[in-house]
Amino acid sequence: MFDRLPEYPWQQLKPFSALAAQHPGGAVDLSVGSPVDPTPKVIQEAFVAGANAPGYPSTAGSLELREAIAEWFARRRAVPGLTADNVMPTIGSKEFISFLPMYLGMGPGDAVVQPEAAYTAYAVGAALVGAECISEDNPDNWPANAKLIWINSPGNPDGKVLDVEFLRRCVERAREIGALLASDECYAELGWDGKWATETIPSILDPRVIEGNLDGVLAIYSLSKQSNLAGYRAAFAAGEAGLVKAIVNLRMHSGMNTPAPVQKAMTAALRDEAHVAVEREVYRKRRDVLLEAVRAYGFEVSNSEAGLYLWATLGEDCWASVQRMAELGIVVVPGTFYGDHSPNHVRFSITATDANIAEAAKRLHEATNLR
Ligand SMILES: Cc1ncc(COP(=O)(O)O)c(C=O)c1O
Repeated sequence: MFDRLPEYPWQQLKPFSALAAQHPGGAVDLSVGSPVDPTPKVIQEAFVAGANAPGYPSTAGSLELREAIAEWFARRRAVPGLTADNVMPTIGSKEFISFLPMYLGMGPGDAVVQPEAAYTAYAVGAALVGAECISEDNPDNWPANAKLIWINSPGNPDGKVLDVEFLRRCVERAREIGALLASDECYAELGWDGKWATETIPSILDPRVIEGNLDGVLAIYSLSKQSNLAGYRAAFAAGEAGLVKAIVNLRMHSGMNTPAPVQKAMTAALRDEAHVAVEREVYRKRRDVLLEAVRAYGFEVSNSEAGLYLWATLGEDCWASVQRMAELGIVVVPGTFYGDHSPNHVRFSITATDANIAEAAKRLHEATNLR
């Protein structure tokens, strides 16, 4: 069992972090997507107000929280009509993503499908149950033995947004195969380019996608990014009530309940739109500064129309770009961390302080002038 997963891949970045640290100005770490801005006061206060919690918290989530999630879907994601029975909290979304194949009873002979450039936890979930993991963006090529299909919009690492038409095709194909279509949407309030600057980024639960039929689809969302809550482990899932109930039952047996103060904090976070709007502007500015510098240096930026990353290529092996950036004291992630389809890309994260983003941009510009 212990060899089902390799050593955590981020260890491979250590030599590059060490090299970056030798820069006279120190390392600017743009590798991790971990938020750096303060958790908004309104959320901290709700957390503290919930601190007296002697009893076990509800695995299904408090009614107050579940109603807040359903209301948020209606208000912010253009998904009306969900009820408290359609939603459930998770302990951050990474655990849920990693254990969903197990909840579905998957094992050897089954396949999990993930995007070609994919957040790492989808493959982890497949590996933990001994299922095959297939990286395939084209629904026409999704295999018949797939029991779980992950899509991710806006994507990590590539910032790609899937539109309504494509999502409809995904649902159609997943239903043809009889697979659960799980849509990881945690960057959906962070759209930047083209129509996604103003239009709602569509959820898999959007009525234009599923026409009110929740069967076989599940939306996953996390408050880690938009609310600076990664340290709280605050996320949720939404879908057909029977599926939600069945998963909650397994989680109840195994103690996967979200702490009560975190449930209070989540409720406050979902009801307050102001802090999300503020954080969004903070990221917009950081993204503008970094994007300009990354392009000036010579990177071609792919997709990246939403979310917290710039997915960029110099047309060379990603490790060569990682090395190049480390020599400037900037740590970025090689595309190979996200599957075999992106050997020439690297990921820059915009979840760094204004000062660090400005410093990275300065170094990129200085290096551009020397090239
Ligand atoms: C696409 C995607 N899904 C899920 C997560 C996990 O978020 P969390 O476990 O903090 O909810 C991340 C975190 O970076 C992510 O990028």
